Amino acid sequence: MGQIAAEETGSWVAETVIDAHAAMTRTAMRIVGSTLFGLDVTGDAARVGVALDGVLAISNRLLPLAQLVGQGLSPDEQSAAAQLIAELDDVIAGIIAQRRAAPGDRDVVSLLTRAVDDEGDGGGLSDREIRDEVMTLFLAGHETTANALAWTLHLLSHHPEALAQIAAEADRCGTGTGAVGLDQLEQLPITQAALREGMRLFPPAWLTTREVVQPTTIRGVDLAVGAQVIVSPWLTQRDPRWWPDADEFRIDRWLYPDEQRPKWAYFPFGGGARGCIGEHFAMLEATIILAEVARRWTISPAGDAPEPEFRVTLRPTPAVPLRLQRRAPH
Ligand code: HEM
Repeated sequence: MGQIAAEETGSWVAETVIDAHAAMTRTAMRIVGSTLFGLDVTGDAARVGVALDGVLAISNRLLPLAQLVGQGLSPDEQSAAAQLIAELDDVIAGIIAQRRAAPGDRDVVSLLTRAVDDEGDGGGLSDREIRDEVMTLFLAGHETTANALAWTLHLLSHHPEALAQIAAEADRCGTGTGAVGLDQLEQLPITQAALREGMRLFPPAWLTTREVVQPTTIRGVDLAVGAQVIVSPWLTQRDPRWWPDADEFRIDRWLYPDEQRPKWAYFPFGGGARGCIGEHFAMLEATIILAEVARRWTISPAGDAPEPEFRVTLRPTPAVPLRLQRRAPH
């Protein structure tokens, strides 16, 4: 993670404008490719990006609810969707084939190709099962993290004082020219506070659902078994009951947390048995990347502020244009 974060942020050019969303997507995709699959997926990044854009654009309309209210896909759109999914499948099939041919020790795909169902029939995973796992990790593992970083960078471009604190923290970590790593994580509380605050205002997964398994009443509303309940970090995390000056970016909320605040006033990673399995991976990765950005660059807004686009994830649209200035060495 550290190596890729350092390479990517180190390749930026002073006095230019970058789209931080594109830059973070590329970085996060490379990190997932490398850490989970042991591969360099840079070449696939553009293909996956285009296919993923297309799938995300229609994904809400693939859901049963959309079909029910007549907003499902037309036959033409269905075949376009099938093509996009085939494109993604192709990239994933390539990853699986490479790992079967040259298994690694630690990457997830190699582990899955060797996995045995001890509690069941003792067999291994089919290609289809591995494909489903890999697709989930690949998609869940980079889009959300890239969004979290892009929104946080957008917010920090309007809060130079917070960015300066993060930069100073990265310097204090004593990383010198090397990349920030696991050992330094606990020395980066301000960096993590900025990410938590970024995800409070712009939770990448802005809603999640639960199915009612036993008759339940919430504030006088009876919920029958099988009912779908939608919960939204976007709404709860901007509720002034729990968050004074709810719309303001204030990293001190996390440095001096309010002990009275209920635990579930904040849940960007969901929770319980179906909570995000990548939470710690994502926080580690995002902290490292943000520290690497702040150590090298001062950023300022360079165009219209992005708007949130409420799809499966909360994307900054159309882009996050930031002007880069090289930070004086400390
Ligand atoms: C900032 C980054 C991320 C955010 C905000 C995020 C958010 C979420 C949320 C809200 C859920 C649903 C939880 C629930 O309903 O309780 C979820 C599920 C999931 N996430 Fe993440 N996630 C992130 C990064 C990752 C990464 C890096 C991975 C993989 C390496 C990952 C893999 C998954 C998987 C597999 C699930 C489904 C878990 C299940 O249904 O049992 N996520 N994530």
